[in-house]
Amino acid sequence: MFGNVFQGKRVFITGHTGFKGSWLCAWLLKLGCKVTGFSLNIPTQPSHFEAMHLGDHIEDLRGDIRNREALTQAIQKTAPDLIFHLAAQALVRQSYADPVTTFESNALGTMNLLEAVRHCPQVSACVLITSDKCYRNDEQVYGYRECDHLGGHDPYSASKGCAEIIAHSYFTSFFQDGPACATVRAGNVIGGGDWACDRIVPDCARAWQAGESVEIRSPKATRPWQLVLEPLSGYLALAAQLLAPQPSSPFTLRGEAYNFGPSADIIKTVEEVVRELAVHWPGFTSHMANAPQTLKECTLLKLCCDKALAHLKWKATLNFEETIRFTAEWYHRYYRGRAQDESMLDFTLGQIAAYVHAAEARGLAWTA
Ligand SMILES: NC(=O)c1ccc[n+]([C@@H]2O[C@H](COP(=O)([O-])OP(=O)(O)OC[C@H]3O[C@@H](n4cnc5c(N)ncnc54)[C@H](O)[C@@H]3O)[C@@H](O)[C@H]2O)c1
Repeated sequence: MFGNVFQGKRVFITGHTGFKGSWLCAWLLKLGCKVTGFSLNIPTQPSHFEAMHLGDHIEDLRGDIRNREALTQAIQKTAPDLIFHLAAQALVRQSYADPVTTFESNALGTMNLLEAVRHCPQVSACVLITSDKCYRNDEQVYGYRECDHLGGHDPYSASKGCAEIIAHSYFTSFFQDGPACATVRAGNVIGGGDWACDRIVPDCARAWQAGESVEIRSPKATRPWQLVLEPLSGYLALAAQLLAPQPSSPFTLRGEAYNFGPSADIIKTVEEVVRELAVHWPGFTSHMANAPQTLKECTLLKLCCDKALAHLKWKATLNFEETIRFTAEWYHRYYRGRAQDESMLDFTLGQIAAYVHAAEARGLAWTA
């Protein structure tokens, strides 16, 4: 898969102790990479990172991306071929509580990363993870395209818009002939091993485990739900082509931005997600507590992924039911196996294999 580009590559990941970063580490291990992670401490308890005992399988560095010197030293010491930058204050509600840390981490942290890359000639490619929330949300019914206005009301969204602007300044000012870099914008991801606050699937997992009902803030809100492996397959497909551009491709990928989202029929409401999860969790009661909505959150955010399809031949693999089933099965396994302190690494790798198998069966180009 991915043209076997990753075998033996040295990869540096920021945010590896988080939800998406830990899944990406697992996939990179499967692809034969040497992985170094750089992050603050594990953001949740429990966590996917610890459930997999990931620290035993990668080089696990702890540091703050707001500290440019420490980050630069770590990257220079690792001398990676490829960097994935995921570290961020990733929660909208937390960004209202602490806007300064959010801007420092998400905007200036991205600048620090790019500055470090500028001084590390070994880096060949870099993929910067921002968010679908980097777009100015006009509540439009059609999907946002990469050329649409950046913006964002809340500090998290605005910080991700800032990260995009900083990245594209560095791409055009410093990286024309240097490392091949790109930004990626994905929406809400779900999957096993997420225990963040104020996200619907972790809220359900916690409630399910405790035998309680789950409190829903905005049951009618729609999000482009996708399994965590969907955008990761896009990030990896992009990274593979940044590292080894296909001579036959008419597209230049360096300096570009890409959306990665689900197919349009996975635009479901929060309520529909909860009901589908309940199908897989016997005994789970999906009572909607409808908590009052105090902070402004966008009601509709949809991405147009035509550019990823055209440039990378990438599109999402799973339908809604499969997405929820993968997610529910991971939590089932975790809560069943916990008594034996079973590592979830094998199960996580098994889910990656099953996802790749589904993508192969559907003829996705990156599986070759
Ligand atoms: N989860 C989603 O639905 C989603 C959607 C769109 C975009 N994203 C983006 O994807 C990335 C990963 O998201 P996630 O859900 O895994 O988040 P997460 O909160 O689970 O993990 C965040 C990671 O960043 C690290 N981190 C935070 N601040 C740091 C700092 N100052 N220095 C070093 N490390 C720091 C944490 O330690 C952790 O490893 C983030 O950039 C996020 O904005 C996530």
